[in-house]
Amino acid sequence: MRQLICAGNWKMHKTANEAAAFVDAFLPLVRAVPDRVEIVLCPPFTALAAVSPKLSAGRVKLGAQDVHWENSGAFTGAVSAPMLREHRVQYVIVGHSERREYFGDTDLTVRLKTAAALAGGLTPIVAVGETLELRDAGNTLAHVTLQTRAALEGLSEADVARVVLAYEPIWAIGTGRSCDPAEANAVMAAMRACVPGLRETPILYGGSVNSENIADYTAQPEIDGGLVGGASLDPKSFAGLCANAASVSR
Ligand code: PGA
Repeated sequence: MRQLICAGNWKMHKTANEAAAFVDAFLPLVRAVPDRVEIVLCPPFTALAAVSPKLSAGRVKLGAQDVHWENSGAFTGAVSAPMLREHRVQYVIVGHSERREYFGDTDLTVRLKTAAALAGGLTPIVAVGETLELRDAGNTLAHVTLQTRAALEGLSEADVARVVLAYEPIWAIGTGRSCDPAEANAVMAAMRACVPGLRETPILYGGSVNSENIADYTAQPEIDGGLVGGASLDPKSFAGLCANAASVSR
């Protein structure tokens, strides 16, 4: 049985104070969520220090939104795996479509970041997904499997086994237009098959996930949870989403 994961990607939202207030409100709300749902919060870098001590009980895990592939060096504005580990970060999103679109992440840097995260003791949540143009041209599977293979290229079998994947169709992110769960399931089946060793890998769906539709995704055999933007910003809404993720039998 693969682990269910609900990861909140806060993007560039919440100051350290706002993030701390979120956690204070959120923790009591997720007490009853079954353990088979791993809950992850990915605040901005500047909020990690405020949030980390509040999560020390371990029920909710800490994630970051990006990582550099070097441990240190002349890389203005970047943050490395050892810097994240110091704040007890366990997960890091790598290759989010916003990083690829606005910050120049490529298949190569996504591969380097994935490897650096693993080497630094972090679990990378590697995000892949197609534009509407690619989808309309019938190229979804080719594109998504290419991105998946590129991100995992050169990793040992043991490292591949430590990766989490996320399928996030770009046209579904922040648009309120979520992907049909059966279609997302089919894309994930192709992802799982495109690199050896992904049978037990959690694959998350991302793109306009909310507390109402999450169970439609986790009811699918290949979908192991959600990478959640907008619906993770409110404690009640995200706690409800985490509970509902576990409401279906798998
Ligand atoms: P959304 O974002 O849930 O707001 O669509 C998801 C993501 O970008 O990870």
